[in-house]
Amino acid sequence: MNLARKTMNAPALAAVYERAWRPAVFYLASGRTTGTDRRDAVDALRLRGPQKVLDLACGPGNFAHYLSGYLTDGGFVTGLDYSPAMLAKAAADNAGPRVGYVRGDARTLPFADGTFDAVCCFGALYLIPDPLAAAREMIRVLRPGGRIAISTSFREDNLFGTVSTAAAGLSGLRLFDRDTFPDLFAAAGLIDIDQRVHRFMQYVDATRPE
Ligand SMILES: C[S@@+](CC[C@H](N)C(=O)[O-])C[C@H]1O[C@@H](n2cnc3c(N)ncnc32)[C@H](O)[C@@H]1O
Repeated sequence: MNLARKTMNAPALAAVYERAWRPAVFYLASGRTTGTDRRDAVDALRLRGPQKVLDLACGPGNFAHYLSGYLTDGGFVTGLDYSPAMLAKAAADNAGPRVGYVRGDARTLPFADGTFDAVCCFGALYLIPDPLAAAREMIRVLRPGGRIAISTSFREDNLFGTVSTAAAGLSGLRLFDRDTFPDLFAAAGLIDIDQRVHRFMQYVDATRPE
């Protein structure tokens, strides 16, 4: 297990992740606040009503709980994560009537095809050993007409990007180019693909056609 994955499994990180780690690290990486990311996630996923939502690699539930506030009765957010420490923190800090947490591996999701109205994965694909398999799993469990949204790392296609990629790789983090996820989404038949880049982060969302 590499350094990045070990860090995510550490109870000490889970303890400070939502209030200190995420706001600081993601602000440096993207110039955006957690509040902005959360509000944009609601818009990108077009959350409303009694939808079923999957928050993949949910960490301590910091997005899952927030997103669940936009659903009505019958709606539910399932947060899935691999780290027991993160899931314990999610259960302690981010429980609610329309959110629940399950342990699992993003690469082999324990859900039937087309289970969810909306599927998201924020700030995690660069940690997952086979991120493209995880992205394909997200698409598999999304119903026709549903929305998918990710945020992940970004590298420029220049010398700085090459050096950054090598430096990140030492800790087990991957930096993705501009094309990987839009191309994967397009190859899977998704439409309305939109990508926004902020510093070292990219945000991509799309619709699975009816
Ligand atoms: C940086 S946190 C992101 C938490 C939250 N989504 C956010 O945006 O703040 C990354 C999470 O990915 C989880 N993770 C890494 N590999 C995973 C895998 N293969 N399956 C499920 N979760 C995984 C880690 O346990 C960690 O909680």
